[in-house]
Order: sequence, then C-alpha cells, then structure tokens
Amino acid sequence: MDILMYNIIDKKRLRQALTKEEIDWVVSNYVSGIVSDAEMSSLLMAICLNGMNDTETYYLTKAMQASGKTIKFSYPTVDKHSTGGVSDSTTLVLTPLLASMGIRVAKMSGRGLGTTGGTIDKLEVFKGYDVYKSFDEFNRIIKETGASIIAQSADIATADKKIYALRDKTATVASIPLIASSVMSKKLAMGSNIILLDVKYGKGAFMQNKRDAIRLAKLMVKIGKLDNKKVWAVISNMNVPLAEGVGCAQEVYSVIKTIDGEENNLKKISIELATNLYMMAKNVDRAAALSEVNIAFDKGIKDKLKQIVNAHGGATEYIDNPDKLLESKYVTTINASESGYISDIDALNVARFVMELKQRVDNDKYRQGIISNVSVGDRILAGDKLVTIYSDTKISVEDKDAIRTAYTITNRKPKKLKLIEKVIK
Ligand code: URA
Repeated sequence: MDILMYNIIDKKRLRQALTKEEIDWVVSNYVSGIVSDAEMSSLLMAICLNGMNDTETYYLTKAMQASGKTIKFSYPTVDKHSTGGVSDSTTLVLTPLLASMGIRVAKMSGRGLGTTGGTIDKLEVFKGYDVYKSFDEFNRIIKETGASIIAQSADIATADKKIYALRDKTATVASIPLIASSVMSKKLAMGSNIILLDVKYGKGAFMQNKRDAIRLAKLMVKIGKLDNKKVWAVISNMNVPLAEGVGCAQEVYSVIKTIDGEENNLKKISIELATNLYMMAKNVDRAAALSEVNIAFDKGIKDKLKQIVNAHGGATEYIDNPDKLLESKYVTTINASESGYISDIDALNVARFVMELKQRVDNDKYRQGIISNVSVGDRILAGDKLVTIYSDTKISVEDKDAIRTAYTITNRKPKKLKLIEKVIK
C-alpha cells in the first residue's frame, strides 16, 4: 500500500509506533519538498505530545544521518557534544588537552542557540580563524595538530537542518526523541567511534530538570550502542554559569585563565570530560585516566591551543594576552548592595542580559559580555564588586538592576554545588 503523510500523522496522533519504512519516507520526502512544512509541523507536534519509542527514535536518527554524508577517518578520533549551556567553553579546554595526549579530536560545533553560547562564535574571536574548512583541510589539521574544530557542514545530517528550523518556529524543540535524534544523527555522521555527551540540566539548559536530562542521556547512549559506537554521557549541572565570563570574548578570557592555571568549575568539568574520553579511548580505569589527564594539563596546553588556532588561520595574540579580550568602550562595575554569601548566580538571567547587550550593537557582538567577580559560596561585603559589564553601549540604571537580580545574596552559606551528577554508559 502507498504511504500517505495523512496516515502517518494520524498514526502518531493515535500514539501508534511508526515503522522504519514510514520514518525513512517522511524524512526523505520532507528533504525533497514533497512533504510540506504544514504536514511536517503536524507530525512534529504529534511526536512532541505523544512521544516515540526507542526503536522509532533510532530509525529517525538513522534516516536523518542518511540524508547527508557520513565522514570516514582512516585513524581513530573522538568527539564530544554538549547539549548547550551558559559559559560552556569546555571544548576549548578539552580539545588541546586531549590533542596534547595524542588523542585526536574531530569536532564540528554549532553557533549559539537561544541563550546557550556556541563554540563556533567563540572561535571567531581569534581573528582570521576559518570555521568553514573543507573536509580535506579538517582531516589535514587533525593529522598535523591532533585536533580540529570547525562549523557543522551543511551536508552532515541535511534533514536535521531543515527539521530543526521548523521545530524552532513551531514550538517543537522540547521533545526528548526529537532532541536525541537531532543530536545523534549529526554525531553518527561525524565518523568518530568514541562519543562523549555532556548533557546539562538546570536553568541555563534545554533540560530543566535532572530526570529529563538522564532520560535524554540514556536514549542517546542507547542509539549510539545500536549503531556500534561507544557513547557515554556525563550529566552536569547548568544552574550557574560554568565560568566567570559570559559573552564570546569573556568566555575565551575564562578559557585562557583556566589554561593558565586558575582553579574553577570550567577546569573541573573539562578534566572530568577529558578523563572519560581518555578512559573510553584507552580502555583504562578512572584513576589511571585522571592521573594522565592531570599530568598533561599541568604540563601546559597553551602551545597546543595556539597550534590548533594557528592551523585554522586564527591569530593567537589573545592567548598570550588575555586582558586584551576585555577591551571595550564601556566597562561598568556593579557592586553588592548587601553583605552575605553568594548563594546563586542565575545562569538564564545572566545569559539573557548578555543576549540583550549583543542585540544593541551591529558589530563586534563578540565583545559584549560580563565577568562575574564572585562565585557561588563566596562571602562578600556590601559594596564589593559583583560583576563587571563590558559593552559598546552605555549601561543604564535598569540594566544594572537587571543583572543584579541574577545574584542572590543570603545570610547562610549555601550548600556546595554538585557540578557532575553521574556518568551514563
Ligand atoms: N541541539 C541539537 O543539535 N538538536 C536539538 O534538537 C537540540 C539541541
């Protein structure tokens, strides 16, 4: 019998499982334009409301992967993916760290999505960095330096690009099977047999609660296994920005400070991710991997970062001179109005504030951002510096009030933040 889009939508409306044949049909006909946006929107909403079982989600992942090309390397590579967070610059620490240990990293990254930052936007802070290298160049740079990070190419999981844009317009992003298939279609197409997922939950993440993050992680790990890939997922907290800097230049500043030895949450999570990838790549236990990773980090990874940035045409002056990243027309400090402990820094509020700063300028959006001068748990006095804003537009009293509300000050010392919840294998 002929497959009809009407029947597929109706099946999902009635909570029935779609077959592989039906899912392949929808994806290929949507890409070719035979299935319309209206029909696809209706199916996506039915999936959002009624879900998909794990087998359907795997079929959807594979159909989206098959809509583009799949990369093949002639040597082992690893890949890492974050579901997106605020001040999440782990890729920029982790990549030179692993490369310095002889583990090749092949990474295609995205731009910022909503309030979550994008690695590609941050890499462009290094003037001249070409995020659009061809596959041959990607391959050459990985062989030469041990790692390459470029923008997601349009011919990887082509269907996902089109479906994601429609989901963005039709309020159908927040669905675990749709997120899992979108992420995994791209990861499977990228050719690495070892994939580490950093699944974040909390105010600054797609997944607002831990339970959903764990469901999403388990599903993605299962999809990877069905495809004979080694996939693990780290569940991590995204209620508080990961580093002091939020905004492209400020986040790169935090990366350089971390590489230079500052102890912070960005270092903690980067070491955790690198340790897991090292365990996966070398089949060693956690203690051995952690020790190797710490030795490599302490030896220094600055030269490796420079080598990688250089290989993509990027200028490395900021790596030697991070203070230059904070040059902007206006530098505005906000002071605490009371004494106490910093018990929360609301990642979503901070990210929204920085987004607003970026929207005010046509050029140099990367320069607009903030640096937190305090961390959760710090004891502060009224008048102490809370946050510094770097902007090319003047900061108003309302702006100051807006960013201040992201900082909660209490009399009681808050509980220590649990940054890493668990690892799902
Ligand atoms: N990131 C993706 O790549 N896809 C989603 O659906 C959500 C986040």
